[in-house]
Amino acid sequence: MNQLVLVLDFGGQYKELIARRVRENNVLAEIIPGRTPVGEIAKRNPIGIILTGGPDSVYRDGAPRTDKRLFELGVPVLGICYGMQLTAYTLGGSVKPCGKSEYGRVAVECDASSALFSGLAAKQTGLMSHTDQVEVLPDGFAITASTADCPVAAMENAERKLYATQFHPEVENTPNGSLMLRNFLYGVCGAAGDYNITDYHARMVREVRERVGDKRVLLGLSGGVDSSVCAALLAEAVPGRLHCVFVDHGLMRRDEGDEVEAAFSKRSLHFIRVNAEKRFLAKLRGVSEPEKKRKIIGEEFVRVFEDEAERLRRGYGEISFLAQGTIYPDVVESGANASATIKSHHNVGGLPEDMKFEGVVEPLRGLFKDEVRALGRELGLPRALVGRQPFPGPGLAVRVIGAVTREKLGMLRAADAIFREEMRRSRAKADQYFAVLTDTRSVGVVGDFRTHGLTVALRAVKTTDFMTCEYVPLPHSLLGRTASRICGEVRGVSRVVYDVTGKPPATIEWE
Ligand code: XMP
Repeated sequence: MNQLVLVLDFGGQYKELIARRVRENNVLAEIIPGRTPVGEIAKRNPIGIILTGGPDSVYRDGAPRTDKRLFELGVPVLGICYGMQLTAYTLGGSVKPCGKSEYGRVAVECDASSALFSGLAAKQTGLMSHTDQVEVLPDGFAITASTADCPVAAMENAERKLYATQFHPEVENTPNGSLMLRNFLYGVCGAAGDYNITDYHARMVREVRERVGDKRVLLGLSGGVDSSVCAALLAEAVPGRLHCVFVDHGLMRRDEGDEVEAAFSKRSLHFIRVNAEKRFLAKLRGVSEPEKKRKIIGEEFVRVFEDEAERLRRGYGEISFLAQGTIYPDVVESGANASATIKSHHNVGGLPEDMKFEGVVEPLRGLFKDEVRALGRELGLPRALVGRQPFPGPGLAVRVIGAVTREKLGMLRAADAIFREEMRRSRAKADQYFAVLTDTRSVGVVGDFRTHGLTVALRAVKTTDFMTCEYVPLPHSLLGRTASRICGEVRGVSRVVYDVTGKPPATIEWE
C-alpha cells in the first residue's frame, strides 16, 4: 500500500494539477469531494490532506464547509486559496472581501524559517486569484508570507502541522510552487516517496477489473497516444473481453487509416476498422459552426460504436462498456467541472446523453499528456507510438475552417503531407505541427493569370501539457520551401501563412 495524500475538492480549477504535482513528487494523491465525512477520511489513513481552492466565499450561506475535526486528526493539512480561507473560518479566524483583489503573478515575501518555504529565498513569486482574504488569524497561527495587498498570504500552526497559502503553489506561475509542495510532503507529512508510474499502472489495472467485472468493453481506438495507451492498459486488465474499434471517419491525414490498421492488426488485440467516411461527411454537410461540427462528430462516433456493439453482441454477447482514452485537458476544456467551455473535445462534450452502453470507462481521465506517455512507456509500447504528436478526434474537420467538403479535405491532406515531409527533412522540432485550410480567399498570380484561391495556415507549437503553448520560430527557409511547394502542388491554394500565436490567447487547433 502506498502512502496517500487526500485532495479535498472545493470546486477549484486546479485540483487535478495539485494531484499531479503530488504525484510528480512520488506520492500517491487522490481527489475526493470536499464534503466527505471526517470519519471516512480518517479511515483512509492519509499522511496529508490538501484543501483546494474554490469559487465561493466561505462566509456566504451555502458555501462549502468542512468539519472542525478535520484539523484535529493529527494529519498535516495544507489549505490553498479557498482552502486557506476555509481553514481560518473553521478554526475561529475571519475572512473578508479584499480591499483590492489580486490576479496574476504577484511578489510574495516569505518567512524562510517556515517548513513550507525551507530552502527558498524570502522573495518569491506566487499566482494569486482571489477576492476574499484572511483578516484575523485563528488562535495559534502565525503569518508566514505577505504581499503588498494581502497581509496574510500564508499562515501556519507548525505545532499542529496546519499550513495554508493564499497563492497557488500548484501552478507554473508560482515558479517554486512545486518545491513548496515538496516541502509540505517531505518536510511536514514525512512522505517516503514510494509512488511511481508502475504503481499507477497496477492501480489502474485493478480499478478497471473491479469496474468491468466479467463484462465486455468496446474501446474507441484512434491510433493516437491516448487511445493506444488505453488499449494496452485494457488489454492487460480485461484480456479477451476487449474489442478495439477504429473508426475511419474520412477525416484522417494522408495514409493514416492504413497506418493505424497496420500498427494494430499485428497486435494481439481484437481490432476492427470501420470505414465510416460517408456517414460522417453526410452529417457534416453544410455545417460551419465549430462547436456544432464537434458535437456532430462526437455523437456520430458513439452511433458507430453502438452499431458495432450491436454487431459484436451477436457473436460475443452483451457489450456493456464504452472505453475512451480521455485525458484531463480534454475534460477541463470541454467545460466539465463547472469550468467554462473552450471547445467540446469530441470524447467529452460531444457524447450524446442517450448512449446504449451501461457505462463509460476512462482510465486516463486524471492524467496529463506527459504522464500518459510515461504510462505508455511503462506498458512497453513502442517509442514511436508513445512519442506521436496528438491528432484531434474530429480530425481534419476542425482544420478545414467552415463547411467540410471532400474537395477541401483533399486540398488540406495534400498541404499537410507536404508540411510534414518538409518538417521531417529539416529535422525541425515541434511538439505538434499541422496545416489548416482557412476559408479566406486571396488574389494570386500564376504565369499570366489571376488566381483567387484559398489560404493555408501552418502551425507548429512547443508545449508539454497542451493546455498552453508557444509557437515555434521555424526557419524561414523551411517555411518558404513549404509555401512554394504547397502553392505549386495543391490546386486551389494561392497563399500560405504561418501562425505565430501562443495559447492563450489562441488555442492550438483553429476550431
Ligand atoms: P486546443 O485546440 O484545445 O488543443 O488548444 C489542445 C490539444 O488537444 C487536441 N484536441 C483534441 N483532441 N479531441 C481530441 O482527442 C478533440 O476534440 C480535440 N480538440 C483538440 C489538439 O490537437 C491539441 O493537441
